[in-house]
Amino acid sequence: MVKKSWGFATLAVHGSGGHDPATGAVSPPIYQSSTFAFHDSQHGADLFSGAAEGYIYSRILNPTTQALEQEIALLEKGDEAVVFGSGMAAITNTIITLCNSGDNFVSSRTIYGGTHALYLKVMPRINVGVTEVDATDLNKIEDAIDDKTRFLFIETPANPTIEIMDIKACAEIAHRKGIKLVVDNTFATPYLQNPLKLGADLVIHSATKYIGGHGDTVAGIVVGPTDIMTEMRKGVAQDIGAILSPFNAWLLLRGLKTLPVRMDRHCKNAMRIAQFLAFHPRVEKVWYPGLRTHPQHDLAAAQMSNFGGMIAFDIKGGLEEGKRMIDALELCTIAVSLGDCDTLVVHPASTIHSTYSPEDREAAGIKDNMIRLSVGIEAVEDIIEDLTLGLKKM
Ligand SMILES: Cc1ncc(COP(=O)(O)O)c(C=O)c1O
Repeated sequence: MVKKSWGFATLAVHGSGGHDPATGAVSPPIYQSSTFAFHDSQHGADLFSGAAEGYIYSRILNPTTQALEQEIALLEKGDEAVVFGSGMAAITNTIITLCNSGDNFVSSRTIYGGTHALYLKVMPRINVGVTEVDATDLNKIEDAIDDKTRFLFIETPANPTIEIMDIKACAEIAHRKGIKLVVDNTFATPYLQNPLKLGADLVIHSATKYIGGHGDTVAGIVVGPTDIMTEMRKGVAQDIGAILSPFNAWLLLRGLKTLPVRMDRHCKNAMRIAQFLAFHPRVEKVWYPGLRTHPQHDLAAAQMSNFGGMIAFDIKGGLEEGKRMIDALELCTIAVSLGDCDTLVVHPASTIHSTYSPEDREAAGIKDNMIRLSVGIEAVEDIIEDLTLGLKKM
């Protein structure tokens, strides 16, 4: 019996429903089955008509992915969740659920490069318009909304600049204008920030990141109210079919058990490293919301319970110096993605954000001398020693 009143750490361990009633297995079973037998032909017809509830086919519903959906909805304080085969699938299914051909949405302009690429490449093909704005400027958001706008999309903290958007203020604008607010909560995780409690309508995660936590799964999640989630599940997702496999759902359930413990360590390590970088003579600027020098430090302190594990920093120099710095690292891994136990380092402008034109990148604050660090859970002294080495070789 799961109690909604349990604390976050208890829900993270037990929120999927406890021991398997049939066998007593403590670890949830992986229902690695594409299809489920009907008792008889009438049972099959009843499941299809909705007269009976149960499992039909794993693209529609699977017990292992369902256990994950139950747990993540509890952690995000939402009614229901739908899980997907990637964060991008979660974003795509959200857009198609909320928009019809001819509609548009407004998005913050500093976002994951893959999301920006989806806007550029796919939205014109389905005739959905996107206006990207500086979402730290609330007037710009208001001005961009018209009578065909269906939702506002923000990513906070933003990839890769770690900019913070005001969720409550965005929700107020969205609702006054009769549209929904969708928040990509990947960088914060439900442990540090619950956008639904701050007024958002839907929350999206690339669960590939902190929720999985071990760099071994690609997955996406959307959480929200029953009416929208039912429409997403039955009206869109099961037909698009970008589902998560039962095994990957099980990996995420396993990852979630340690999410609070890992996040505490990510945050602690990141704060130490941000302070170290802030005083390093070869670093021009550090973007970490836990530092008082971050332009939205107070906002981050108000809407997040801690500041996360993501840091961006501008080095003194350009692309060549940045490459030399990264190439000299021995412990930190040069790789895209984030939220793993391992510290990952990447140069956004030449990799994940190369999907932006140079002009759009500049407008979004993604500079050529910016390096993004996903701080892992290793001994912090070792990460600092490695960064010291890299900055020396720069
Ligand atoms: C903030 C954010 N949202 C969404 C995505 C897309 O997620 P996925 O790679 O799981 O499709 C990413 C990927 O890096 C991301 O950083």
